[in-house]
Amino acid sequence: MSPTIYRMSLALIILPFGMMSVSPAGDSQSLSCWLVEDIAGTESKPRAILQTPVLIQFTDAAGLTQSSPVTADPDTLLLHVFDPSGKLSPEFTTCEITHHLPQEVSLTWGRSLTEEKISPPALARTWYTLAASNSKDGRAVSLVLGPLGDRKDHFSVSLAVYSSSFVQRARLGKSLTLPCGMWKGHQPRFSVEWRHRALGDGSLRYANEGWKDKVEEQDPQCHLNFSALHDEGDASLLIENVEIAHQGTLLCNVYVPYLRAQREIHLVVTAKPQVTLQPSPLFARPGEEVTLSCDILRFHPLDISVDFLVQLPEESHPTLLTGKSQSAHIHNQDGTYSISAFQRVIASNDLNGARYFCRVTHVSTPRGLSSSQTLRVAGVSRPSIEDIMYLFLTALILYGTLSFLRQKATSLTAQDLKVQKNKSE
Ligand SMILES: *[C@@H]1O[C@H](CO)[C@@H](O)[C@H](O)[C@H]1NC(C)=O
Repeated sequence: MSPTIYRMSLALIILPFGMMSVSPAGDSQSLSCWLVEDIAGTESKPRAILQTPVLIQFTDAAGLTQSSPVTADPDTLLLHVFDPSGKLSPEFTTCEITHHLPQEVSLTWGRSLTEEKISPPALARTWYTLAASNSKDGRAVSLVLGPLGDRKDHFSVSLAVYSSSFVQRARLGKSLTLPCGMWKGHQPRFSVEWRHRALGDGSLRYANEGWKDKVEEQDPQCHLNFSALHDEGDASLLIENVEIAHQGTLLCNVYVPYLRAQREIHLVVTAKPQVTLQPSPLFARPGEEVTLSCDILRFHPLDISVDFLVQLPEESHPTLLTGKSQSAHIHNQDGTYSISAFQRVIASNDLNGARYFCRVTHVSTPRGLSSSQTLRVAGVSRPSIEDIMYLFLTALILYGTLSFLRQKATSLTAQDLKVQKNKSE
């Protein structure tokens, strides 16, 4: 038997036991990733980004693989990863690995983590950060992978920061929870920090020394639930009264001694506009040109679409009008926008009773918004139900008044007759 065949048959004998002891289901547990490295330039070569395909093979604590690794091509790096956090899943659709450099944190809320200044020797070995997400359900994780045992290709998750969604929408003025969870094994020391990054501008929103329950920095509107933080590792940021300024990317950073992991959530703040169609009421003479104006106030974000429609009295559906125009947008102080849209209409007898709509489509309102006015063309008499009701009511009131007056008159005459009668006696 050649050595290769010997090794293969040995593997075939061992593998079924490995499968049984770890995962009775025995399904393939692996994830494809890319190792992204920044290669410094030399005299002969420019700086470059090197991408290497990686296959992550899930293992148990002893480094035993649950199923035989998918034999990848020789260029693929095979890493065996033990994940006690349970956050790594073969369902992730994107996965990227970068080198992680364990180091002390010089921030105020990071110093106490490593105050003894004694670092474990394992820190000198290879560490990675793995960032993965699932485009279908929005889940995302960042994991720090450290050495597992003595083998160079075996790793264990040391820290995990995860989030149930990487895009979050919030309504202006409402309160909001930005989801972020952490797993840090038995490590008691940690700090949490939330940063905000918007178009070229970053700021700290919240920071604590979590293990000492000490808040170091805090926006008045931002806080963390400390009991949830300790009990469930829930580092979600609670924001009261969301402002447009909160929009952007929020970074949830978790620090444990010498390691850190970060998850980002993109926050979109929406504001539902107020829509009014003018003039109100809508009256015109035949042949007169009227400009309908639709005011759309205080919305966010800016992307919006406005349409004018008309529904004639005998039609069941409104139809789209062409030839609208739109004002430039106004940027309000609270960060919201306002615009006006215009539509010219020439009144004619046929248009009497036509209903004009201004319809707005915006991300803040899934069903859309609209405002409408009914055109009344002067000199066209086509009595509507309201007109008939109005005439009927008028007649009724007139009848009531007249009969009251008549009664009054009759009783007066009777009284007069009585008085005259008394006088004559
Ligand atoms: C904090 O989290 C706990 C769960 O750990 C929950 O029961 C409690 O209602 C939360 N408090 C607030 C103010 O949200």
